Amino acid sequence: MAAYEYETHEYDVVVVGAGGSGLRATLGMAEQGLRTACITKVFPTRSHTVAAQGGIAASLSNMGPDHWQWHMYDTVKGSDWLGDTDAMEYLAREAPKAVYELEHYGVPFSRTEQGKIYQRPFGGHTTEFGEGPPVQRTCAAADRTGHAILHTLYGQSLKQQAEFYIEYFAIDLLMSEDGQCEGVLAWKLDDGTLHVFAAKMVVLATGGYGRAYFSATSAHTCTGDGGGMVARAGLPLQDMEFVQFHPTGIYGAGCLITEGARGEGGYLTNSEGERFMERYAPTYKDLASRDVVSRCMTIEIREGRGVGAEGDHIHLHLNHLPPETLAERLPGISESARIFAGVDVTKEPIPVLPTVHYNMGGIPTNYWGEVLNPTKDDPDAIAPGLMAVGEAGCASVHGANRLGSNSLIDLVVFGRAAAIRAGEKVDRESAVPTPRASEIEKALDRFDGLRHASGGTPTAELRLEMQRTMQQDAAVFRTDKTLAEGVKKMEAVAGKMDDIKVTDRTMIWNSDLMETLELTNLMPNALATVVGAEARKESRGAHAHEDYPDRDDKTWRKHSLAWVDGKTTKLDYRPVHLDPLTTHDEGGIDLKKIAPKARVY
Ligand code: FUM
Repeated sequence: MAAYEYETHEYDVVVVGAGGSGLRATLGMAEQGLRTACITKVFPTRSHTVAAQGGIAASLSNMGPDHWQWHMYDTVKGSDWLGDTDAMEYLAREAPKAVYELEHYGVPFSRTEQGKIYQRPFGGHTTEFGEGPPVQRTCAAADRTGHAILHTLYGQSLKQQAEFYIEYFAIDLLMSEDGQCEGVLAWKLDDGTLHVFAAKMVVLATGGYGRAYFSATSAHTCTGDGGGMVARAGLPLQDMEFVQFHPTGIYGAGCLITEGARGEGGYLTNSEGERFMERYAPTYKDLASRDVVSRCMTIEIREGRGVGAEGDHIHLHLNHLPPETLAERLPGISESARIFAGVDVTKEPIPVLPTVHYNMGGIPTNYWGEVLNPTKDDPDAIAPGLMAVGEAGCASVHGANRLGSNSLIDLVVFGRAAAIRAGEKVDRESAVPTPRASEIEKALDRFDGLRHASGGTPTAELRLEMQRTMQQDAAVFRTDKTLAEGVKKMEAVAGKMDDIKVTDRTMIWNSDLMETLELTNLMPNALATVVGAEARKESRGAHAHEDYPDRDDKTWRKHSLAWVDGKTTKLDYRPVHLDPLTTHDEGGIDLKKIAPKARVY
């Protein structure tokens, strides 16, 4: 047994992660008088939400007619009919309320001439249940919307007396014998102390795992920490095979160029100067859904129409737009293009390439953010004491493909929903549970084992091997062959964790150890992704399987579940929720409107 001292803290709620969903949950919990702690491995305003550019979707109708049911329809279609209907209704219905709350909290949205929140077009967002023109639904603060939201929510959380534990790394969940989450063990990075946070409710808001791939728009901190902890607690991950490639990562650097650039009138061309999206998506063209645009770009490159010396990327043109529009609406990406591609967007196109951007899959939850521990008898069974929100969770509103700007709205709608639920469920008068000593010891032993790991494989080397494998074998297009190879290679990569080498044994600012802990989190996420992808014999949303090019609703309209233990992954499935929250008679959507059909743009 590893001998470490630790300090114990007791709260009603502990939120792990301080991005958009974590802060929105923290704020909502604290507003209701719940004693709330937020622990975060980076300073809150450095969380990855800060990088979200284009905006947040809500049917405010500020720029023209819109309706929550049109938003719901677009989300259902965007998900390629894999999203849960109740959760998608909740998202679209609650979105306007959640955005107005943000406005009242102080988010400095861009404005229309009339002083209303400015909204721009984004891919896959339409009117009239996909029959009308594109809609301007994405509420924006220039191209720094995530930045604006994060700063506002952090300030508001402080105002509500939420307590922040900054630069604390969560190591493991502390579970009771009967499967209730009772807290989390964390390591304070700047002084090396260890901390047990005991809580009646733990909320995982740890973001995605983009860094399982070689080229990603995600920050280096996006290491799937929540998914890793959940997998080690014996709970499943859901729909992990669905990984979103954003069409416009800067070639070579991977930094995001917002879809808002195309929303403001930007367009893509190939080596022949052709606006090729007109061929593939005659109605919505460059504003088709992201998975569609990413695939079309990849096809253009594969068929020899890529640009550049290697013919391996695509051009994004903004140079026809008025310089004032670029300065007012897209200042951030104009700067990114200059710094990372050496391009003056007023004069030249930006070299871009589909780049890993978002994980549709994650920790399965209901639309209140409660984590599920599905059984054969009850596919919606709840894991008590545990919630997951934001990209870490899978509610599931994005299904097989997320629409642009549905991520920020997911963060605030479900962060808020988790707070509402916790307000109802957490008994303020009851005692905080005492995590079991054996659970704390297990977590400390794992920590100590990694701290003293003396194998032959440095963390950075193994991480690179994982990233290259994922990039190559779980890519935009997949085949039986690449996926089978990917599974084999990833199992071998995961097996090498036993040979990991950590050279720094200290406890303070030990980035070697922290990156190793992060790698132990990335690994189960990566495995679940490639194993889930190998098993799914159809094409749906972001899972484009060349040997099975069609969607197969009869067999595959179901969520995959992956239990990962070391290098072993066990798969099972649970049904998609087909029932909405409200019937048509009650003012809900007409189910005929969202019946599955071919997904064309
Ligand atoms: O393109 C973007 O601004 C990204 C938005 C999103 O992923 O929702």
